Amino acid sequence: METPIVKLSDEELNTVYEPSEDSYLLVDALEADLEILHAIKPRICLEIGSGSGIVITALAMALKRHHNVQFIATDINPDACRATRRTSLINSVDVDVLQMNLLDCIQIKYTFDIILFNPPYVVTEYDEVVDDRLVFRTWAGGKNGRQVMEQVFATIPKILSDTGLFYLVVIKENDPEYILSAFKKLNMSGKIVHERKVRGEHLYILRFHKIEETKS
Ligand SMILES: C[S@@+](CC[C@H](N)C(=O)[O-])C[C@H]1O[C@@H](n2cnc3c(N)ncnc32)[C@H](O)[C@@H]1O
Repeated sequence: METPIVKLSDEELNTVYEPSEDSYLLVDALEADLEILHAIKPRICLEIGSGSGIVITALAMALKRHHNVQFIATDINPDACRATRRTSLINSVDVDVLQMNLLDCIQIKYTFDIILFNPPYVVTEYDEVVDDRLVFRTWAGGKNGRQVMEQVFATIPKILSDTGLFYLVVIKENDPEYILSAFKKLNMSGKIVHERKVRGEHLYILRFHKIEETKS
């Protein structure tokens, strides 16, 4: 998978998440899964919290030649929305960007074949999760670092297509096993598909799919 060109101004770097080890680990996981991703013949892909746009752009660059796919990105930060749009255009792909809180404006009637989320996962006080400063949104995950990501868990099975895949970035402190069991209760099966220890952080990529209902 090609690494997209990302250009962030000094001013944007005050609020927009600069591509980091977690972003690259998610791109690496997608690259390792490229055959699987082609096989599901994706039609609509969504990234929640796209930041600079590096991840959804890398996915779009890898899939655009083979399928007629629509790429959608969301972020709560308007600066990140602008950066994502620019990153997609610089790299000659088309990503539609929507500024919103998590999945608030996504209608349940739409289903996505690939959903990506590299959430703010750092364990912090709750005050930091609701801090108005946009840069806090890039990392502040509250209790167990799960207070932001958990808000989308119940919606994922409702908006993921039957053959779709959901990728989530987490760290050890988020308790990946707890997250896997939380999704099992939502009838979704997940596993760790990638992990890396970098500078005191143990990063994991979890991949989920719906559990097929057995027909009687
Ligand atoms: C760790 S950064 C990841 C950025 C990018 N996806 C990457 O991998 O480089 C988390 C992103 O989620 C966004 N975000 C945080 N809380 C959000 C919310 N409630 N709704 C939408 N986006 C949110 C942040 O603005 C930030 O861009």
